[in-house]
Amino acid sequence: MTPFIMDHPLIQHKITLLRDKNTGSKEFRELISEVTMLMCYEATRDLPLKQVEIETPMAVTKANVISGRKLAIVPILRAGIGMVDGILNLLPAAKVGHIGLYRDHDTHEPVEYYCKLPSDIAEREVIVLDPMLATGGSAIDAITKIKDRGVKQVKFMCIIAAPEGLEALIEAHPDVQVYCGALDGHLNEDKYIIPGLGDAGDRIFGTK
Ligand code: PRP
Ligand code: URA
Repeated sequence: MTPFIMDHPLIQHKITLLRDKNTGSKEFRELISEVTMLMCYEATRDLPLKQVEIETPMAVTKANVISGRKLAIVPILRAGIGMVDGILNLLPAAKVGHIGLYRDHDTHEPVEYYCKLPSDIAEREVIVLDPMLATGGSAIDAITKIKDRGVKQVKFMCIIAAPEGLEALIEAHPDVQVYCGALDGHLNEDKYIIPGLGDAGDRIFGTK
C-alpha cells in the first residue's frame, strides 16, 4: 500500500522543532504528542459514520457520529509511549496494548522483552505507534505479533521514517497503511536516521 507522507505545514514545523538538538525533553514530549494528534486526524479519515437524530436548541436534525468501529493502539516501547496521549485525546475509547522491543546494539535486530495486548484485539482495528522507523525491524516484528493474534486491519504511524525501513515494512506487510510525518535521507552505519532527531526514547525520557 502506498505510504502516506504528511505534508501539512503544522506537522513539518513541529518536526523541525523535534529535530533541533537544543529542544529539551519537556518540549520534545509535548511536540511528539502534538504531531501524533495531527497525524491521527489523517489516519482516522476512513472511519465510518452513521446518522443519529439529535435536537439542537433550534430544531430536530439528523447528524453524523462515528459508527463505533473498535480500535486499539499499540505503542512500541519505549518511544511509542510518547505518542499514546496524542491518540487518546482524539480517540478516548481506544484500548491500549504494549509491545516492548529494543534494538540490539551490535546486530540492530529487535529483541522482544514485553507484550500485553487487549484480550479482544482480534476484533479491533489496530494502530501501531513508534516515532522512528529506521531499519523497519521493530515495526515488522510488532505487526507480525499483532497479526498472529488474529488482527485483520493494522495501520502503522511513525514521525520519521528512513527509506530503508519504509521499503522493508511495505515488503513485509503490504496490507498495512503506513503514515509518516517525514521521510528522511538514509541510515548511518549505526542504523540511525540521518538527519533524523537522534534517539527518540532517550530524548522523550531524558535518559542521555
Ligand atoms: C528505537 C525506535 C524504534 C526502533 C526503530 O527504539 O523507537 O522502536 O528503534 O529502529 P528499527 O526500525 O531499526 O527497528 P530503541 O530500540 O532505541 O528502543 P527504545 O525505544 O527503548 O529507546
Ligand atoms: N531509533 C531512534 O530512536 N532513532 C533513530 O534514528 C533510529 C532508531
